[in-house]
Amino acid sequence: MDPAQFGISTLPLQHVPYGPILPENLSGTNSGKVALITGAGQGIGAAIAESLAKSGASIAILDLNTDKLIQTKEKCLAFGGKVEAFGCDVTDSSKLDEVFAQVKRQLGPIDVLVNNAGILDQRPFIMGTFESFWRQIEVNFKAPLMLIHAILPRMRDLGHGCIINIASRSGTVDVPMTLGYVTSKASLIRATHTLQKEMELDGLDPAIHMYALHPGGVRTNMGGVGAADDVKKKYGDITDEEFYKDLFKDEPPLCGQMCAWLATGQGKELRGLFLDCRQDVSKLLDIGRETLLKENRNTLTVNFIDGYCNEP
Ligand SMILES: NC(=O)c1ccc[n+]([C@@H]2O[C@H](COP(=O)([O-])OP(=O)(O)OC[C@H]3O[C@@H](n4cnc5c(N)ncnc54)[C@H](O)[C@@H]3O)[C@@H](O)[C@H]2O)c1
Repeated sequence: MDPAQFGISTLPLQHVPYGPILPENLSGTNSGKVALITGAGQGIGAAIAESLAKSGASIAILDLNTDKLIQTKEKCLAFGGKVEAFGCDVTDSSKLDEVFAQVKRQLGPIDVLVNNAGILDQRPFIMGTFESFWRQIEVNFKAPLMLIHAILPRMRDLGHGCIINIASRSGTVDVPMTLGYVTSKASLIRATHTLQKEMELDGLDPAIHMYALHPGGVRTNMGGVGAADDVKKKYGDITDEEFYKDLFKDEPPLCGQMCAWLATGQGKELRGLFLDCRQDVSKLLDIGRETLLKENRNTLTVNFIDGYCNEP
């Protein structure tokens, strides 16, 4: 990736938790809330679960991988709250219904939903099967919307709720070899913008607040792994260890703590927007919601040449 293509921030980026989102500043702020986090067996999802547990929430964690989920559960239990773990495929709607019923029985109604589970198959569209392309749409887009569709009415009945969709910078740019991923993440960001506006229709804005988040570049099972060998053999491998170290230098707790902070409601002014966890939330709050919306900041948008507007 050539920096000339994407520019370099002139404001410093955060790579670890800072100021308002530090664990010591959020201790107890989510006490009494129930948070459900998908894909919490490892990586960013495990960090989100830990941060929410640390901030006092009871948590329900879901993942395909039950062994890893148990490890996350043990770490979270150390913070003293309730933790329930569910081996579950987020695309399996009937299993999800069972999980929702169990969460309600064991922990209570869900106040916070974090759609984090995601997959990436890095290869050109025509070099993979259509099923593999579509599976990314199902896990990264269909499943989060299925969870929201099931949980939103319960949040409406509660009168409040927070929904965090872990999206990606990839949903805002064109990245060859990741068609399933970029299109699913772009859809998730657009859905977040539009759903927040739907909350206004029923007088549920800002009581129900939602966000699309880019967690930064995080070296995980997915982040910084690169393409499969057959793809590298055909197109060459432009990456090396230094390349990945530089692009994927954000720690999982940066996104974890951002989620815990958003769950408290302290970032409600930023509801409906696409947020990059590396950007200091205080700077966005200083600018203010009105200006951010007026200037189309943190929103998926199109820029036509001067003189042409995006008219209906
Ligand atoms: N790592 C990065 O740099 C990066 C950058 C941008 C966005 N993201 C997003 O962050 C999220 C977490 O990614 P990560 O880097 O921690 O990846 P990861 O592969 O380390 O973890 C993903 C977790 O989701 C689980 N999962 C996958 N499919 C599932 C399914 N169908 N049902 C239930 N669980 C399932 C996996 O078992 C795994 O535990 C993803 O949505 C990803 O797109 C990551």
